[in-house]
Amino acid sequence: MSLHPIRLLLLSLLATTFTGCDWMPGKPTRPETARGNPAADVEFSSLWATRCAGCHGIDGTWGGARPMNDPIYQSLVSDDYLRTVTAAGVDGTLMPAFAVAHGGELNDQQIDIIVDGIRSTWGKGTPVSGAPPLTGPLGSAAKGKQAFTAYCGHCHGADGTGGTAGSVVDPTYLALVSDQSLRSTIICGRTDLGMPDWRGQHADAPANQPPLTADQVSDIVAWLASQRINYPGQPYPVLEQPGTGRSE
Ligand code: HEC
Ligand code: HEC
Repeated sequence: MSLHPIRLLLLSLLATTFTGCDWMPGKPTRPETARGNPAADVEFSSLWATRCAGCHGIDGTWGGARPMNDPIYQSLVSDDYLRTVTAAGVDGTLMPAFAVAHGGELNDQQIDIIVDGIRSTWGKGTPVSGAPPLTGPLGSAAKGKQAFTAYCGHCHGADGTGGTAGSVVDPTYLALVSDQSLRSTIICGRTDLGMPDWRGQHADAPANQPPLTADQVSDIVAWLASQRINYPGQPYPVLEQPGTGRSE
């Protein structure tokens, strides 16, 4: 007697139910299982690789977002700051909140493992002294414009719209970054990308140009912030409404 195709199907479904999916192609491997059960992941290397590396770079460098292996950043940043940003994210930017309390899926212990890991993996460099504080108030935009032209114009253009290093007043860019991130960038630079730190050292820097002061950093952030526009992505094309003579 041959089996009806429907019975065959039922039998194979039953077999799958009893044997589990162990033999199936696509069976989850252990790290994927940990992804389904986020609390199981308690290794810094795996937490970093699965949660942070896509944006901050696998070894903390060359990411779209700030490298964590930067010795200046490591000298200036506090554990509390790292913990707060990792837990709560940065509102209005692409930096997600990771703590359960903020809608993420990591518990406090995992946030601590990440902070400790960032420190023990990349915080061993020589501490850097004399840098302006990582956080600070906004300064004067007018003074910031002058300081920008003097210190940044060589690479970003006197008005910030771009030189060899591209625009930093692009409305879309400014809409995506916080003032704090601009401040960190000005103080620490992006030495992995060729952007100098607050001391402004580069091949064509004017001789004897003093490092930026804390006030100048605050002024430049204020000027960059003042370049934000209300509706980035505008203007949209103006569409003529046929026959009405009106446009909207
Ligand atoms: C989707 C991309 C993305 C992911 C994933 C991501 N970040 Fe970020 N992160 C950002 C961006 C963008 C910023 C800058 C935000 C801003 O404008 O202030 C940032 C900022 C930060 C800062 C503050 C940097 C500063 O300038 O002081 C820290 C610390 C940080 N992230 C840690 C982490 C950690 C730890 C993880 C993983 C648990 C992580 N990030 C995952 C995009 C990301
Ligand atoms: C020697 C050239 C040079 C000078 C001087 C310089 N930059 Fe940059 N800057 C760069 C390069 C290169 C990048 C990376 C550009 C890229 O990858 O698109 C960069 C990136 C940036 C970014 C974006 C960082 C990010 O990833 O979010 C900001 C903001 C910025 N610079 C601001 C400034 C300011 C403000 C000054 C003056 C205090 C300054 N730069 C001086 C070369 C320079």
